[in-house]
Amino acid sequence: MIGTPDVIVDVGSGTGVTAEALAARFKRDPRPRFVLVDPQRGFLTRARRRPKSRFDLVEGDATRVPLGTHSVGVVVSFGVLCCLTEEALPHAIREAWRILRPGGYLLVSVPRWQGPGLESQLMVEGFVRLASERPGVSALQKPS
Ligand SMILES: C[S@@+](CC[C@H](N)C(=O)[O-])C[C@H]1O[C@@H](n2cnc3c(N)ncnc32)[C@H](O)[C@@H]1O
Repeated sequence: MIGTPDVIVDVGSGTGVTAEALAARFKRDPRPRFVLVDPQRGFLTRARRRPKSRFDLVEGDATRVPLGTHSVGVVVSFGVLCCLTEEALPHAIREAWRILRPGGYLLVSVPRWQGPGLESQLMVEGFVRLASERPGVSALQKPS
């Protein structure tokens, strides 16, 4: 469904487990550039040690991602939005919206019980839901 994007950003990447699994799916060139954003430097240091990965590592926060507006084709955020405070969550959603190009994709995962609430919030901000693997694991799109 999603072609090869030029840039994939993993917001709240941790040590890069998710990014590494995603990167492995792109076997042929051109491969996307992966940017991993996390506030914890120690996690990013561990992500750098992943042998097959050539990630760009950025120390940053989901509410203030240091990337340009409309600069990204896909934002991935697994197990992160569920950890944010009520105040921070809308800021993080708007940041994902800001950095995504029109037509870009947002892939999120939160615990099952938080899924419906999060999806509603994302749709209020303008995202369109494309698919849900299960409640809390969803693919959404920023309309073109
Ligand atoms: C449960 S881990 C998930 C890591 C990774 N996404 C994965 O799937 O393995 C949560 C991650 O969110 C990061 N995190 C916590 N607060 C954050 C924030 N405000 N902005 C961005 N990342 C944050 C943590 O540092 C941690 O790496």
